[in-house]
Amino acid sequence: MFADLLANNPVIELAPMAGVTNRAFRRVCKEASAEIRDQAGQTDSDGTVYVAEMTTSQALLMRNQETLDLIKFDGDENIRSIQLYGVDPKIIGRAVEMVVAEELADHIDLNFGCPVPKVTRKGGGSALPWKRDLYRDIVTSAVKNANGKVPVTVKMRIGIDQDHVTYLDAGRIAAEAGVTWVALHGRTAAQYYGGEADWSAISKLVEHIPNTPVLGNGDIWSAADAKRMVTQTGVRGVVIGRGCLGRPWLFGQIRSAFAGEQIPSEPMASDILRWLKRHATLLCQMHGDEFYGAREMRKHMAWYLKGIVVGSETRGQLALISSLTELDDLLATIDPNQRLTEDIAHSPRGRTTPEKKVTLPEGWLNSQNMSQVEQETVRTAELSVSGG
Ligand SMILES: Cc1cc2nc3c(=O)[nH]c(=O)nc-3n(C[C@H](O)[C@H](O)[C@H](O)COP(=O)(O)O)c2cc1C
Repeated sequence: MFADLLANNPVIELAPMAGVTNRAFRRVCKEASAEIRDQAGQTDSDGTVYVAEMTTSQALLMRNQETLDLIKFDGDENIRSIQLYGVDPKIIGRAVEMVVAEELADHIDLNFGCPVPKVTRKGGGSALPWKRDLYRDIVTSAVKNANGKVPVTVKMRIGIDQDHVTYLDAGRIAAEAGVTWVALHGRTAAQYYGGEADWSAISKLVEHIPNTPVLGNGDIWSAADAKRMVTQTGVRGVVIGRGCLGRPWLFGQIRSAFAGEQIPSEPMASDILRWLKRHATLLCQMHGDEFYGAREMRKHMAWYLKGIVVGSETRGQLALISSLTELDDLLATIDPNQRLTEDIAHSPRGRTTPEKKVTLPEGWLNSQNMSQVEQETVRTAELSVSGG
C-alpha cells in the first residue's frame, strides 16, 4: 500500500495532533476535501494518510481503554494510521508486535518530536534522539517487530536547540533501521511553535538520506505552500498540522495542486458552517454524549470562524455551546454568503508558543550515550505524556 503511495504524487499526511486528530476530525477532513474537489469538477481518490492521536506504547500494551479508543477507526478509513510514543525499546517492540498481530493499524509512526517540558525533563520526546544508542534501539526494535507487515515511520524535530542538532544523525539511524519514511518538523524543541520552520534543514535531510523518503513538516498553510515545500526541498511528501485546523478541506486543495489541477477556491461561509456542524455532530456521536461532544467542539470554533464576520457576542456564545441545538441557533444568525479571503484562509492558526529553554534531565547534554542513571530517569518519561 505504501509503495503505491510513494510511487505517485507526493504523499499528504495529516500530522498527528493530540486532542484533535480523532475519528470525527479525520472524517470531516476526508468528507470536506472530497466535496471541495467534487465542487471543482475534479474526480477524487483519497490517498491521504490521516494519523490518529498519539498513544503511548505502555498504555497500549496494558490495553488501557482510553488508549484503545484513540486507535479506533471507521470502517472506511483505508489507511489506519497510528502514532506511538515510547522510551523503552522492549516495550515499543512489544506494542508494535501487538499492533501487527491484532491487525490494529496499517501504519505506525513513532513520535520523537514532543517538546513538552514534562516529557523532555525526563529525556523523552524531542530530547531522546540526542541519545543515539537509545534512539537507535527504539527505532530498530519497532521496525524489527513490524516484520515488514506494517510500515514504520518516524517524526522528529531538528534537535533540542540550535547548539544540539540531532536530525541528520537521527535521520540516518532511522534510514539504517529500515523505516519507510522520516518526517521532519523544521523547528528545534526550543523553538516550540514560534518563529518560522526552517525548510532548509528539510532539504539537507533529503540530501543526507537519499534512499529513504523524507516528508516535510512545518508552516504549510495552503496548497501553494505544500507545492512550494516539495519543489524547494525535494521531499516526497508533506505533513499538515495547524493549517487544517478549522480548514478540513485543505487536503482536497493540496490533492488538486499535486495532481496539477486547478486548486479549488476557498469555500463560502455556508459550506464552512455546514462542515463545522458536521464536525460537532461527529464528535457527539464519537463520544456517545452530546454535551461532551459539544464541549470538545468549543476549541475548534475560532479556527472555523477565522475570517468570517460574526458578532462578538455570538462568537463568545459559540465558544460555550453545550448542545447541537444551541449550535444550530447560533450558526443561523451568521451570514452564509461570505467568502473567505485567501490571505485570511492561509494565515497561521493554532499554537504559536514562542521559543523557550528546553528542560532536560541533569547532565543530559554531556554525552550522546545513555548512562545507567539516565536509563532509570527515561523509563519514567512515558507515564505522563500527551501530545507533541
Ligand atoms: C494541538 C497539537 C497537538 C500536537 N500533538 C502532536 C502529537 O501528538 N505528536 C506529534 O508528533 N506531533 C504533535 N504535534 C505537532 C504537529 O504534528 C506538527 O509537527 C506541528 O504542528 C508542526 O506542523 P504545522 O506547522 O503544520 O502545524 C501537535 C501539534 C499541535 C498544534
